[in-house]
Amino acid sequence: MILVVGARGCLGAAVSRRLLARRLPTRVASRQPESLGALVACGAQAVRADLLHPKTLATACDGVDTVFAAAHGLLGRGDNCSEAVDRDGHLALIDAARAAGVQRFIYTSVLAAAPDHPVDFWRSKFAVERHLEASGMAFTILRPSAFMEVHAHQLIGEAVLAGARVRLLGHGTKPRNFVAVNDVAGLAVRALAGEGLVGRTLAIGGPDNLSNRAVATLYGELSGRPVRVASLPPLLLRAMVPVVSRIHPGVARLFTMHALADDAFDETFDPAALLAEFPGRLTSLREFVAARVTASQTH
Ligand SMILES: NC(=O)c1ccc[n+]([C@@H]2O[C@H](COP(=O)([O-])OP(=O)(O)OC[C@H]3O[C@@H](n4cnc5c(N)ncnc54)[C@H](OP(=O)(O)O)[C@@H]3O)[C@@H](O)[C@H]2O)c1
Repeated sequence: MILVVGARGCLGAAVSRRLLARRLPTRVASRQPESLGALVACGAQAVRADLLHPKTLATACDGVDTVFAAAHGLLGRGDNCSEAVDRDGHLALIDAARAAGVQRFIYTSVLAAAPDHPVDFWRSKFAVERHLEASGMAFTILRPSAFMEVHAHQLIGEAVLAGARVRLLGHGTKPRNFVAVNDVAGLAVRALAGEGLVGRTLAIGGPDNLSNRAVATLYGELSGRPVRVASLPPLLLRAMVPVVSRIHPGVARLFTMHALADDAFDETFDPAALLAEFPGRLTSLREFVAARVTASQTH
């Protein structure tokens, strides 16, 4: 039995659908399992699991041999803040899995997770990676770059296609890598189906390193729509952090992150080694955006 934690999320749902299509026994977890009806209709078991409540994790892991962790709380607030979800909740999930006799654990980290990263989220991911490596379970760590579905489409493209102004945090000039969720899901399922990657930490990215402004321009070029961008400059973001952090620490984290200099941490990726090991195609931003533009025109 494979347990998918974060099955309602972008990556968790894509992985769950692929596991079910392969008829692999799959248990999907959410804090709201009643919302997982589409996956249950495809044959999944649904279970309630909250990373803040270890008892629910023990129940979710019971009878499971493989765990796929794809939850996060980057924008969480209050009890569900990033420290509680991304660090402590995942340490608890690893402990619950080991105690339940889980043999294999696939963890979704993030590109460039490091103990000295200027943003705490990346440091939490790194701490969880180390805890997993020391757990004794067979592990795989996936380190994807920014998901196109979220960082290109939701945060930039949707505004262009709606004729609205794109609102960027920071200047939007920093090159970063974008990866399609389906490309990450494909590699995750290989690991989950026991097709290698044991003991590996695998960086995963797409073919393109583009700035947020370049992504907006690409949506404009392919849709024929004018592109209007408003950006909050780093100085202003920095000045707003103390106030915003009292209202929403998750949003304050984003402000802090986008107020950093472009060279404070690298968000680019060279897919050459990934493609050499896993020959095939990685979705380019141009084809991803073209598909989104076509979809927006047919609705
Ligand atoms: N998005 C990106 O660009 C990106 C880039 C690199 C790495 N990643 C990593 O990839 C993974 C999946 O990201 P995503 O963008 O697909 O996520 P997402 O769509 O934002 O979904 C996140 C999921 O986390 C779950 N979650 C939040 N708090 C929880 C808690 N206390 N207990 C249990 N579940 C909780 C939510 O599940 P319920 O609400 O159903 O409980 C939600 O479905 C994460 O580990 C993320 O850090 C993402």
